[in-house]
Amino acid sequence: MNIRLEQPEDYREVENLTREAFWNVYAPGCVEHYVLNQYRSNPDFIPELDFVLEVDSVSSPTGRQIIGHVMFSKAEIIQEDGNVLPAWTFGPISIHPDYKRKGYGLTLLQYALDKAKEMGIGVVCMEGNIEFYKHAGFVVASTLGIHYHAEPKDAEVPYFLAQELIPGYLNSIEGTYHTPKGYYVAFENKEAFEAYEATFPEKEKKVIEGQIF
Ligand SMILES: CC(C)(COP(=O)(O)OP(=O)(O)OC[C@H]1O[C@@H](n2cnc3c(N)ncnc32)[C@H](O)[C@@H]1OP(=O)(O)O)[C@@H](O)C(=O)NCCC(=O)NCCS
Repeated sequence: MNIRLEQPEDYREVENLTREAFWNVYAPGCVEHYVLNQYRSNPDFIPELDFVLEVDSVSSPTGRQIIGHVMFSKAEIIQEDGNVLPAWTFGPISIHPDYKRKGYGLTLLQYALDKAKEMGIGVVCMEGNIEFYKHAGFVVASTLGIHYHAEPKDAEVPYFLAQELIPGYLNSIEGTYHTPKGYYVAFENKEAFEAYEATFPEKEKKVIEGQIF
């Protein structure tokens, strides 16, 4: 197993991996591969935290297969007094369906978080399942005084998570996290997304219990 920075020649393979990982998980089909495709040219994208995880593969001509990927983005917490506190987020994070629940997701995420810490990143906020992210140090963000932009301030938001990478970064802070605009690209440019999606092999969209959209 090897973790390294994503290279331009990996882009299509990684977008295909992202599509495979997210397909029918949260909605029939998925949009995360397009989010990634568009994000790499977004000023919020952090190329130093754009990692792939590859394993040996006898069936691949290169002898390697990329089975994991994660990217990070700049984000913001708007404080009660209107001041902006820099924050960061990550995702999509993808592990190929054939390699799920073998520890690769956690290994990749922990590696990326360690690099983020070395870069001086103070806090990482994200939307996800605490049952996975708690293993990498995340807690429900409301316990750190951070609200979610799309929910009432007093709401319990069990899927909105955060982790201080600089201890005390959120001391005396109360504010609201805003998901960066770049994550909504597929909904804002539906036609462009559909044209992009049409460049991939057809896959059946299914309605499955547990999807949230
Ligand atoms: C989510 C994802 C990145 C996790 O990677 P992974 O390699 O499968 O997870 P790991 O094997 O590292 O999991 C470590 C532990 O986290 C927990 N965990 C992982 N996935 C979980 C899930 N779907 N539900 C509940 N707990 C989970 C388990 O405790 C697991 O340990 P265990 O397998 O011994 O029980 C991967 O499953 C994936 O790509 N999913 C589809 C895309 C996606 O949902 N991305 C995240 C969007 S927020």
